[in-house]
Amino acid sequence: MKAAGRGRRLERNQTAVEYYFAPMEGVTGAIYRAAHHRYFPGADRYYMPFLTPTRDHVFTPRELRNAAPEYNRGIPCVPQVLTKNSGDFCWAARALFDMGYEEVNLNLGCPSGTVVSKGKGAGMLADPEGLDRFLDEIFAGVEGKISLKTRLGLESPEEFPRLLEIFGKYPVSLLIIHPRVRRDFYREPVRLEEFGRALELYRGPVCYNGGLVTAEDCARIQGCFPQADRLMIGQGLLANPALIRQIKGGGPPEREELRAFHDQLLHSYLEAFGSPRSTIFHMKELWTYLSRLFQGAEKPLKGIRKAEQMAPYQSAVDAMFRLPIREDAAWERRLFEL
Ligand SMILES: Cc1cc2nc3c(=O)[nH]c(=O)nc-3n(C[C@H](O)[C@H](O)[C@H](O)COP(=O)(O)O)c2cc1C
Repeated sequence: MKAAGRGRRLERNQTAVEYYFAPMEGVTGAIYRAAHHRYFPGADRYYMPFLTPTRDHVFTPRELRNAAPEYNRGIPCVPQVLTKNSGDFCWAARALFDMGYEEVNLNLGCPSGTVVSKGKGAGMLADPEGLDRFLDEIFAGVEGKISLKTRLGLESPEEFPRLLEIFGKYPVSLLIIHPRVRRDFYREPVRLEEFGRALELYRGPVCYNGGLVTAEDCARIQGCFPQADRLMIGQGLLANPALIRQIKGGGPPEREELRAFHDQLLHSYLEAFGSPRSTIFHMKELWTYLSRLFQGAEKPLKGIRKAEQMAPYQSAVDAMFRLPIREDAAWERRLFEL
């Protein structure tokens, strides 16, 4: 696929399309969102990594540092809740609406073994009747917009039509579809045919999510599925924080802004954690994605991964920033071919 070049407008008129930053637990917390919004504004919403309410109905200090409004001022954020208990969901959603959020998202997609074995996340898709009861209780119990982020099923996309029938019974403000089943985790190609079929069956607002890495990917998905006028991007944006700007016809990522973005993240994590070790640990996860923008990144990336102290970390980062920067992040295996 060829890149959309600097300042060149994509052919389709995409003004009506909205672009959302996907929630990514451990990566896109409040500090990340603030830095991204400052240096690469343009995301219409940031979906927050999930909160997991417990029976005692208090958010932990760590959860509040992600979700409390004072950490998200001026940034369009949507909190996400992961639970199978409708009472706990209602409590969390009410608390979040009281904080001023306009929408709360329910996680029906997390594939992790520990989550699914407890019947949460994608595990909720295994029991459609239970899910129906849960939705009935939360839509009756809470006033405010509730959106869903779902996979196509647990084992097979054949599960999806029944699930869509259930979703269609409720005033779901947005159905975000990640067209994989739980068994696919994030490895297998996304299932675009099944996504297309879902659009025929479901009448409410839909957002597509999965495998979008370049501006051209987004244009192609839009060309195939114009009804899905919202696109959610996760790993593609971690790798290329300027991707939404490029999609909208703006320029590719520049060295100086990437460096400033990196430095703000580093300093904010250092301030928040008070420890170079955990700061570097956090930055390493980011670099697994961001390094895809740099040509010949293997050597400095190795240096970053090895670093445990600030001095070697900084010198590996300096080496990274001396490399040529790509217009599009490199991806060894395309997640879809259209
Ligand atoms: C490290 C990581 C953390 C994630 N955390 C969450 C999460 O908290 N909530 C959620 O709904 N999805 C989560 N996801 C899934 C992403 O939101 C998204 O659906 C997935 O990465 C596919 O989109 P992409 O190909 O654009 O990245 C996570 C994915 C990754 C790789």
